[in-house]
Order: sequence, then C-alpha cells, then structure tokens
Amino acid sequence: MKRLTSLYEQLRPPITTTGLPGPGYIAKTQARQVIFYILGAVSLLLCTAALLQSCNPSLLSPAHDIASQTQGQQHEHPSELPYYGLSPPFYPTPIANGSSSVGRSRAYQHALALTSKMTLLELQNLTRGYPGPCVGNTGAVPRLHIPSLCFYDGPSGLRGQELASAFPAGIHLAATWDPILMWRYGMAVGQEYLGKGVHIALGPLAGPLGRVAKGGRNWEGLGSDPYLAGVGMGKIVKGVQGWGVTATAKHFLLNEQEYRRRWGQDAPDGKGHAISANVGDRALREAYVWPFMDALKAGAGAVMCGYNRANHSYACQNSMLLNRVLKTELGFEGFVVSDWDGQMSGAASANAGLDVVMPGAGYWGEKLIEAVNNGSVAEERLKDMATRVLAAYLYAGQDNGQFPPVNVAPGGQVPDPVDVQENHADLIRNIGAAGTVLVKNVKGTLPLTKPKFLAMYGYDAIVKSVPWENPDRYGGGYDVNRGWTTFNGTLITGGGSGSSTPPYVVSPFEALSTRVRADGGMLRWDFHSVNPSQKYLNADPCLVFINAYASEMSDRSALSDSFSDSLVQNIASWCSRTIVVIHSAGIRLVDAWIDHPNVTAVLMAGLPGQESGNSLVDILYGDVNPSGRLPYTIAKQESDYGHLLNPSTGQPNGDPFFPEDNFTEGLHIDYRYFDKNSITPRFEFGYGLSYTTFSYSHLDISFVPSSSSSSRPATRPTRPPWPATAANATIDTTTMANTDRLKLAEFPNPNKPIVQGGHPDLWETLFVVRCSVANSGETYEGWEVAQLYLGIPPEAKEEGNDDDDDETPIRQLRGFNRVGPLRPREGAWAEFKLTRRDLSVWDVRAQQWRLRRGEYKVWVGASSRDLRLSGTIVI
Ligand code: BGC
Repeated sequence: MKRLTSLYEQLRPPITTTGLPGPGYIAKTQARQVIFYILGAVSLLLCTAALLQSCNPSLLSPAHDIASQTQGQQHEHPSELPYYGLSPPFYPTPIANGSSSVGRSRAYQHALALTSKMTLLELQNLTRGYPGPCVGNTGAVPRLHIPSLCFYDGPSGLRGQELASAFPAGIHLAATWDPILMWRYGMAVGQEYLGKGVHIALGPLAGPLGRVAKGGRNWEGLGSDPYLAGVGMGKIVKGVQGWGVTATAKHFLLNEQEYRRRWGQDAPDGKGHAISANVGDRALREAYVWPFMDALKAGAGAVMCGYNRANHSYACQNSMLLNRVLKTELGFEGFVVSDWDGQMSGAASANAGLDVVMPGAGYWGEKLIEAVNNGSVAEERLKDMATRVLAAYLYAGQDNGQFPPVNVAPGGQVPDPVDVQENHADLIRNIGAAGTVLVKNVKGTLPLTKPKFLAMYGYDAIVKSVPWENPDRYGGGYDVNRGWTTFNGTLITGGGSGSSTPPYVVSPFEALSTRVRADGGMLRWDFHSVNPSQKYLNADPCLVFINAYASEMSDRSALSDSFSDSLVQNIASWCSRTIVVIHSAGIRLVDAWIDHPNVTAVLMAGLPGQESGNSLVDILYGDVNPSGRLPYTIAKQESDYGHLLNPSTGQPNGDPFFPEDNFTEGLHIDYRYFDKNSITPRFEFGYGLSYTTFSYSHLDISFVPSSSSSSRPATRPTRPPWPATAANATIDTTTMANTDRLKLAEFPNPNKPIVQGGHPDLWETLFVVRCSVANSGETYEGWEVAQLYLGIPPEAKEEGNDDDDDETPIRQLRGFNRVGPLRPREGAWAEFKLTRRDLSVWDVRAQQWRLRRGEYKVWVGASSRDLRLSGTIVI
C-alpha cells in the first residue's frame, strides 16, 4: 500500500488515543495549542508556497474570497487562521488512469485521447455547471461531440418530472434488509433516469448516516449502520449503473445535520461558517467512509462532496477527505462534484480534489484557467478533472449514440414528456410492503381476516388536498415546510431535493376502501379531529394514521408530536383493537401510548412511495407477511439518545462563527451507543415482527483457506450436513498450519495495488458463517431477516500502545440474510460471508485496516438484541 504521508504529518503531534487527527479540539493545554497553531500555520505556508507559485487573491481561501466580494468589510469576520491545518493536508490529487478494471482502463484511454486535444477553455468547460434543463448541466465540447451532461435528483427517483415514478425513500428500502430488492430498486431508478436522458443520478445517499436522531435528511439514506447502508449503496449503484447511468454517492462526508450545514445557513445575519464535524481517523473509516467504500467497489462514477466542514476544512476543499481517503486509500477513479453552491474556494478546492463545481462556475470558470496559467493549479490537475468526467461518461457507454435526449426541465414540464414508469409500480408496492415494520401485534389483531366494519382516523390516511404548490417538491418547498413535525396528508416521502413527486398516490383510505368494498364490509372515518366525537362501537378494528415529517434544510424539532399522540390515545380510550400506522421519515417515539392495552398493533410504515396504501393493505391483510426490520433504534424517550439527539449548535464556549461538533462517541452511534451505555430501547435496531415465528439452530463457522493468498479459493467451503448437530460453533485459527495462518496476516498485502473501492484484500472472504433458520409457526409462510453481529476483540495491550479499547463497540452488524419465504415447518440455511474488512479495525498508527489477534464473538439472531446463536472466531 502506498505510504500516506504529508508535510503536515511530519509536523503534527502524534495521533491521540481517540484517533482525532489534530489537537485543536482535544488539546489539554494552551501551550500545546499555540505550538500546534504555529506548526499549522507554517505547514500551511509551506504547502501554499509549493502549490501557489503565483497567487491570485480571488482563488484563495473562502474568507479571502468572501472578503474580496464585500469590500470594506474585510475585518468583520474573525480570523480562521487558528483552524487551518486541523484537517491534515494531503497533496497532490492522484491522477486517475483507469487501472481498476479493463473497462475503466479503456474508458480512460479514450478520455485521455479526447482531453489531450482540448484547449484549457474546453477542459474547464467540463468542470462547471451552466443553467439548463437539468438540476446540473456541464458545458459541452461540440467539436469533439461531447454533450452537456445532465445531473438530476435523486435519490428516490426523478424529482419533479412528469410520468416518472416515486420510489420509496432510502430509509424504507433499508428497512427491507433485502439486497436483491435494493438492486432491483437501483435498476428501476436507473431505467427511469436513462429514459429521461439523465447522465448522472444524484444518489444514492449514505451521508448523513444518521448519527443525529433528529437529522433532517436521515430518511434519504439507508439506515444508521454503516454495514447495512454499505450493502444498500453497493446494490443501488450496481442497479443504476447497469442502465448506463452514472450514480453519485453523496454527501462525502460527515454532513450529519442540517442546522448550519453550510456557510451562512442559520447563522446570525446569515454570516458564519458551516458546522465542522470533528471526527477521529478510526470512526471516520469504520463508520462514515464505510458505506461509500461499497459504492465505490460497485463502480460508482461520481461522488458528491458535502456543504459542511470536516475537522474545520470544507468538505469540497478537504484534501484529507478527497485526495487522501477517496482518491488514494479508496482509489476512486470517478469525479467529485460539489454539492450545489457548496464550493468555497477556487485553487484550494481544485488542488484538494474537487473535479466539478455545480450548478454554475462557482470560483472556477475563467478563473480556473487563470489559475492554471499562473501556476496556482497545475494543468495536469485540470486535465485530470476533465478526464475523470469524460471517463465516467465513456465507462457508462453514454457515447454510444443511443443515449436518449434530455427530457426533463425544472418544474417538470417539457413539451413531450417521455413516460418512464414502466411497470415499476409493482416493485414499489413490493418494496413498500417489505420495508413496513410490525413492532407490536397482540390479541391476534393482525393479519385482518375480512373485517366487516373498519373505522379510520387521522390526517395521514388521505392525500393532501394541494400538495403541488411547488411542483418540484411534493408537499412544499423549503420556503413553507421548515419546522413541520407532521405532514397534513399521507406521507410517502420527505422534503427537499430528495423529495419524490409521485404520478399518483394510493392513499391508505383509497386502498382500504377498495378492499372493504370487495369484502362487502363498511367504513367510517374522521380524518380531521383529534378527538372524534363519534364512537363507532361496532367497528373492529380502528385504524389510526399519523406521521412524522423531515426535510432537507432543517433538522426535526421533535421525535413525536402531541396532536398525533393525543389522537391515538383518544381512539384507544374506547376502541379495544386500535391499530396505529405511522408513516415516518425516521425515528418516531411511541411511548406515549405503546403500552396502552387497546393499542394492539403498530406498524412503522416508513416512506413507501406512490403505492403506499396498496403496500399497507398487503401487510394488514396478510397477503404479505411483514419482514421489515428497523434500520435505527427507537428509544423510550428523547433523552435516551443523549448528545446524539439534537444537531449541534457548536461547542459550549466555542466561537459561534466557526461552530464545531466533536464526534466524541467515535463508533458508538445508534444501537452501539445504547449497548455501550446499557440503555434499554423501546425497539432496537434490527427489530421487527412477523405473523409467524422462526427458530435458529446449527451455527457453523468455516475458514476460507484461500483467502488473501490467491484470487480463487483453493477449496470451496462445504456446507455442513443438514441437519447439522452443532448448536454453537468455534473456529480457532491459532491452531492452524502456518501456511493458513500466514493468510491471515494482520495487514492487507502491501504489494497489491489499490483499486477503486480500496485494497482488494479487504473484500476477500475469510470466514463463512451459516445457520439454519426454520419457520416454527403453523399457519403463515414468511421471511426472516437473520442478522450477524460481530464483537471485535479489544486491542491487546502492548508497551507504548495506548489505543483505547473502549472504542470498539460491543457488537456490530456484519451480515444479514433475508431468508424465505419459508412455509410452516420449512427451514433453510442463512449464510454470511465475513470479509477482511468486516473483521478489521482502522489502525490509527499504521493508517491501515488491520485484523486484530484475539477472540471475535459471533452472534446470529433476529435483531441487535435478540441474539439466538453464538460462536467464536479466534485469530
Ligand atoms: C442537496 C443535494 C442535491 C442538490 C441538487 C443540494 O441542496 O444537498 O443533495 O443533490 O441540492 O438539488
């Protein structure tokens, strides 16, 4: 592996036990801080001297840019000098050449042949946006037949366009825990982008990961666990790109909250920097970078950098994140696009690894050419930017002469809209049901068996009467939705750029009406009152529909609301079988009424997309047995999330102009935080009920002998005989022959080149774990989501090694398998492959992934707390 050093690394103090890379926010003494700042400033000056041989003031730091635009106000902002260098600089940007695969290499050769013929003006034209039909449009180079490339949101389908589908949101897809559905989702989304002539889809999303319980955009992502999100990212990328549309993994990185997510937003008088997410090296890799690795491994052609700062450096000019983590450690060969208006500097962002600015020229355009001419940005760098863009275009085959013309427009109205919906409604309905999580079901309430008389309540059961005030954003734009806790209509998506715009919505009321009519029954309803005066005493059951809203631009103000809670309590006060359905953009607390004896069933119905009512009826009536599992933890009360509840407003006594948030919990987010602090959640991560029950047995763990030594297994692992006899399993590799043990070297093979997705050894399967899962019920067939959690051993204490064991969570998801459908009494094997990455930690000293020696605990079960089988791997 390449040695990753920089001038800064030689100067900076050693990495601390927490792995935080700089001492600005962890220094214990002022003296150390002062020394550090001096070193930082020296480092900056040296780097600057090396990089900016001739400086153009308009291409310098954001503060400088802003100051130069606000003449006479240069001194009104506090100095940012103390914050320089806290994110280790890493230069120069690696030049991509397509070495990851044959296909990419071909694309690069072709791209390089084109960029070698281009003038500086043409090269820069590929690196910037222009107004046009799409959310983002690059410049064209007509003489070389290179069109303007069209970027569109995302991530749950084409936003704001006619005759396009509204897919379930990412969080809903994650709740299916089904890699095949995730891939099919990506395929369907990709097909619709292709049909509309969109080259670059602005999704999928794993940043935010969901560190902050009230995070406004958690719903666009794939749950609060990096492994689950990683599987989703990989599958969606594969699906989208399977149609020749480039996928954009976003937002890189640490955009974990909306409050002060960008320069000026939420700041007094609109002035003040974005929040800085200060995170240590280990949590950075093992939690936040992790899902992006999967996206890259799957071939993602683009990555979008975030608005926020990371360790005090803006994500779109953060050389540590872009040049080092993304383009060196992970060998990224696509291009980095800024979040919209997220570029904060000219030369600095170019040299830090940004390749495309959107939606306009930002600090580039002609100034980028000036920077190349005066040496502030190397010509090679500009060429690399354009080559990366072109290579993604060529790798996707978008030059084949058959790529459809752009058929989108802001506001969605093009003269002849192409219908791209295909039969995706079926898949949407399917995912809608598969991602619905049953969290309570007593007194045989569900599934319904042709009830004659249903009563329905709640604002969430019907469609909103006027959701199209902003045609681009179903339900309303940022102008009106800020501060909403609920949505006054059935909630199928969240708000903001990730909002989908459905061709139609099947509301719960519509779908239930159809079903009740078919069954010859009757319905009564009140969708308005908090305490409906009519009590339909013959109704059985009563369904109450409530929701929890979230949107880009603001974090949630609460995880529940009193109107909805009162509504549930009022209905439950007289209706002995009250079913609560919650459409929610993330965590929704239920403790106000969950133990009420008349609340006999509760469904977390997520953000299911356009087929909402149909998906729900499939579950309510048992046409589909629920198998959704929570992709986050539902606590008993807000305070149980501790400092992970609210977005940060900055450190106490910190400078409000430079707000910062120290990720002191390291890897302990969501269930890991609850496990570590022994807090009993209401419903844990991975939890969900079925109409049947499942038993687990016959745990088996086997070593894959060929790992790390050759690309093909010498002997394929064999399945244990069925039925096997072992209840629990242990594999002790310390007793193996030396030849096999050598294959478990602590570090990946240093002689192998890094390719996109990271060191290839990280993806090799070292162990296969299997167990049998059987439907132990009598009546219903169904799926079980078997989950594997791993307890990585603590660091062995060595002299001088003060790595903090506390940093390793008690258990972490490292595999899942949606098994089924299994008929009553039927069993099947659940199989989990553990790769080197799954078993490794990021070694802060070695700056590499490292296998730990010791005893790994293996648990397989039905949730992060319902662990049925356990075993051990000793390395
Ligand atoms: C969002 C991105 C989005 C872009 C374009 C930004 O505000 O953060 O996720 O892709 O807008 O709409």
